[in-house]
Amino acid sequence: MSVNTVEINRQLNRFDGHEEVWLFGYGSLIWKVDFPYIERRPARIRGWTRRFWQGSHDHRGTPESPGRVATLIEEADAVCAGMAYRISPAVFDHLDMREKNGYLREVVSMEFADGDAVEGLIYVAGPLNAAFLGETTDADIARHIARAAGPSGLNRDYFQHLADALRELGEIDPHIIAIERELARIDSAKT
Ligand code: SIN
Repeated sequence: MSVNTVEINRQLNRFDGHEEVWLFGYGSLIWKVDFPYIERRPARIRGWTRRFWQGSHDHRGTPESPGRVATLIEEADAVCAGMAYRISPAVFDHLDMREKNGYLREVVSMEFADGDAVEGLIYVAGPLNAAFLGETTDADIARHIARAAGPSGLNRDYFQHLADALRELGEIDPHIIAIERELARIDSAKT
């Protein structure tokens, strides 16, 4: 299955007339930087929380057996830490292709550690997209991640890169810590 959002994102064009745009990454965009950027800075957004509730049919899973990857869910009072990139709008041609499985660009305000705030974009895969898998227990999510793989590699690697990148940023995300703990349990049950 695919819910290709490339055309919708192109039409949503949120940066008419802008020479530079800030993009906030909270999942693979933190650690897989396969695009040019002018500047990057750790940042936070408010009102959104990171969840492994989105299906991946194209990168970390297949149409028959999707993986589980990160999306953002709206939650009052939540704060999500990630990485902000100042990029040229031309970069969105590549990013729209990469994030095509259900992710739409949305406008957010992002804050930097020094208190500065800028408007920019996030890619969000909302609950109405066809690839959305939704909520389940941490143990279910971990089992799913442990077995899935797709053209971009193991689902587990996607998760671990993200967990490691957040650790490097000094950020603690309870959802990520809980899944990591369940993955460790799966590993120790195998030995
Ligand atoms: C993001 O990282 O900001 C979007 C989701 C992903 O590519 O993992």
